[in-house]
Amino acid sequence: MEIIRDLNELLNWRQAQAKAERNVAFVPTMGNLHNGHLNLVKAAQSRADQPSVLVSIFVNPMQFNDINDLARYPRTESEDIAQLTRLNVDAVFLPNEAELTPEINPFSIRVDPGELAAHWEGAARPGHFTGMATIVIKLFHLVQPQVAVFGEKDFQQLQIVRRMVRDLNMPIEIMGVPTARAEDGLALSSRNRFLDEEQRRTAPLLHATLLDSAQQLRLGKPLDTVLKNARNRLTAAGFKLDYLALCRPDTLDPQLTAENGILLAAARLGAIRLLDNQPVVIE
Ligand code: PAF
Repeated sequence: MEIIRDLNELLNWRQAQAKAERNVAFVPTMGNLHNGHLNLVKAAQSRADQPSVLVSIFVNPMQFNDINDLARYPRTESEDIAQLTRLNVDAVFLPNEAELTPEINPFSIRVDPGELAAHWEGAARPGHFTGMATIVIKLFHLVQPQVAVFGEKDFQQLQIVRRMVRDLNMPIEIMGVPTARAEDGLALSSRNRFLDEEQRRTAPLLHATLLDSAQQLRLGKPLDTVLKNARNRLTAAGFKLDYLALCRPDTLDPQLTAENGILLAAARLGAIRLLDNQPVVIE
């Protein structure tokens, strides 16, 4: 596996792939890799065109609106490199912050994700999606992948990236990969390691509640009753809910009646914020 740390090396690597007529599949991450990330890599490797797979690891300061969250974000570079080596990834890109992030000031150019960022994570974390989209477009320009792979767990992020690529005419296919879960259903996340034992026991209830809610909607229960019951159940278990709503997958607007869509939820256990989602299909 090639370990690339600066932009010139990346350019050389990219040119070598073009010369060898190999497509590039790109998996952007912030490191601290778990099975969810490894599933993204495997999805990239299983493409029929057998692309070269490049994983980036960069904790992007532009998408953190809480400086403490940025400071305590787990950084596990050598373990990450060992995991990617075991998976036979072609290259890992570990850019340094000074080279990749501009000096942030009022003159900086940023990507505006528009109305897709109006609700949910966008409302809870102002500036987060601007920072995310800005770094992702920079990485796309540098890596020039044919395909880029993102997890469905961060559903709003995935939809914003899809829309950005479409609206800005970038010739990149965005591939979504289903959420990887622990055996008890908890969506894998780098932040799960901060849950204490009791919180860890409670955490799978978020997914279980979304599954039950999707099932009740399928069986014809009214949306407001289903959402109210779900909120009560989670609150009674100790969650502090940021949001739990049924949304249109394309616009992420909240739906007011039970229709096909996606349930999106963010809830805190103590200081740890958990995200999850569940599609709703009503026959
Ligand atoms: O999902 C993530 O880990 C990040 O938001 C991403 C896509 C790597 C951009 O920094």
